[in-house]
Amino acid sequence: MLDLLGNIKRSHYCNDLTEASIGKKVTVMGWVHRRRDLGGLIFVDLRDRTGIVQVVFNPENEAVLSKAQRLRNEYVAVVQGVVIAREGNINKNMATGAIELLAENLLLLNDSSPLPVQVNEGTIAEEDLRLEYRYLDLRRQSMQEKIILRHKIIAKIREFLTEAGFLEIETPILMKSTPEGARDYLVPSRIHAGKFFALPQSPQLYKQLLMIAGFDKYFQIARCFRDEDLRADRQPEFTQLDLEMSFVNEEDVYKVIESLMVKVYKETINAEVSAPFPRISYREAMDRYGCDKPDTRFGMLLNDVSDIVATSEFKVFADALGSKGTVRCIVAPGCAAYSRKQIDGLTDIAKHLGGKGLAFVKVTADDMDGGIAKFLTADEKAGILARTEAKEGDLILFGADSVPMVQKVLAGIRNHLGAELKLIDENKFNFLWVTRFPMFEYNAEEGRWEPLHHMFSMPQEEHLHLLDSPDRLDEIEGQIYDLVCNGVELASGSIRCHRQDIQHKIFNIVGFSEEEQEKKFGFFLNALQYGTPPHGGIAPGIDRMVMQMTNADNIRDVIAFPKTLKAVCLMSQAPNTVDEKQLKELHIKLAGEPEKA
Ligand code: AMO
Ligand code: AMP
Repeated sequence: MLDLLGNIKRSHYCNDLTEASIGKKVTVMGWVHRRRDLGGLIFVDLRDRTGIVQVVFNPENEAVLSKAQRLRNEYVAVVQGVVIAREGNINKNMATGAIELLAENLLLLNDSSPLPVQVNEGTIAEEDLRLEYRYLDLRRQSMQEKIILRHKIIAKIREFLTEAGFLEIETPILMKSTPEGARDYLVPSRIHAGKFFALPQSPQLYKQLLMIAGFDKYFQIARCFRDEDLRADRQPEFTQLDLEMSFVNEEDVYKVIESLMVKVYKETINAEVSAPFPRISYREAMDRYGCDKPDTRFGMLLNDVSDIVATSEFKVFADALGSKGTVRCIVAPGCAAYSRKQIDGLTDIAKHLGGKGLAFVKVTADDMDGGIAKFLTADEKAGILARTEAKEGDLILFGADSVPMVQKVLAGIRNHLGAELKLIDENKFNFLWVTRFPMFEYNAEEGRWEPLHHMFSMPQEEHLHLLDSPDRLDEIEGQIYDLVCNGVELASGSIRCHRQDIQHKIFNIVGFSEEEQEKKFGFFLNALQYGTPPHGGIAPGIDRMVMQMTNADNIRDVIAFPKTLKAVCLMSQAPNTVDEKQLKELHIKLAGEPEKA
């Protein structure tokens, strides 16, 4: 027989019970985390969202003791009793370890079937099982901590932005499909046959329209949907702190975000973040780190040695330079002692990234040794040492290929070595602004220019005139910036194109005909003509922030109900088939049989 809750109220959460509570009569409610039956004496760890308190059932209260014998893991119970000091065995690892609760009354509100994933064990079930029984997985303390911290971070963001004069405004989830980089999730319309809504990839156009509408400062904790290939830090639906401001330049956006981050990190995880954040241009980041989201917690920068080895007889270098490529290197400190096997391991990483190999030399007391040392002249060796400042005992690793390929390979090797050599201080949050992203990137395969960020950014003022020079489009830098932290892109934003004439030019460059512009963006282009103020903004990815702040190595760990890498929910089995009737109402006929489960 189960008991009913009736009018009984909780007096304390488990973790609220301390030595100061000794002697008090209390009522706690929660789950049986663990039960130890010592025959005649039963100890139960009772858990709620705050933590655990030890409850003692002793023979002096025969009726309650015998009821406690029925308790099993994850049964739901109410315990009423008196807080007493623990005799002798104080548990210093537990917040409530100095006390225990002597049970006077026990209500058994619900039982539980044997658990498919354990809540109280050190060993964690494999992830598929955890995701299938997510509601149980979420009971685990480490998951509760992450989700609770996520709440605190979002609450702090709201507090900060509200004080700073921002208005939280919701924008539609059912919107028009407008190209924004990834593939859209589409929603068929029942009322309008053959027509579709799209779920927003971000509220980009709406937030700009809110600036046109005069709201001046907007933010939203916005859900975004993107049908793209997933990774450890990408989900098909994720959350952005989306914000936008009018009459601002880049500096104003930096200031708001810097103060926000300093406050949020300090007041949620007590981390010191120092502002202003350093800045690096996109081109310099690519040049020095080989990527646009450098981890600045360690050095090992890239060195261009193309000029030094310009006449090298080493075929790999000569071939790369002969086809307009480059030769660059990084210095792995103290790695001259690496074995053949270790170096082969690095070469495999280079190949995995698309490189053809990874040439190396070891730096000795007065020369270079091993690898390609025999192909280098004395002058080349001296030049490389001077440029890289490599010292005895270091290993120099070379990439020779097209510029983008060398950057990709050496950036990957750099990140790998940074972790392997433990060069990274895991307690640091190294924020960095990467600025002046190029507006356009040439897609050689499709023979057209593409926006590097999105199509709504303003070029740097001094580059505006280049929009009319088709052969110089690659030189145009935008008022476009990313916020990077510890090698992860946390946020992206820009000052927007608030003028209709410039927006038209940008659409033309990325290959939208007038007709397409009208069809896809007509409503937006129209709006731009009615007194659009200069405006700009940014959107930090909340999931990625929380991931870093909770030290999670997977984005799924900071989302209550995430999808797998194959974009399915293992708990609810979404996506799934629907009734024939539903399809018919939506005017949809399937072209083939649905995929088998
Ligand atoms: P962007 O597309 O760069 O910019 O996205 C901004 C930030 O959102 C996060 N993010 C993601 N997080 C988890 N899973 C994903 N699939 C995912 N995709 C992006 C990242 C990223 O930095 N409208 C513009 C912003 C603007 O210009 O104001 C936008 O959406 O942290
Ligand atoms: P190979 O002449 O192919 O035997 O290569 C000699 C050395 O150069 C090996 O260490 C290869 O890993 C390295 N190597 C080959 N191709 C490249 C490349 N494109 N960039 C850097 N190193 C390379």
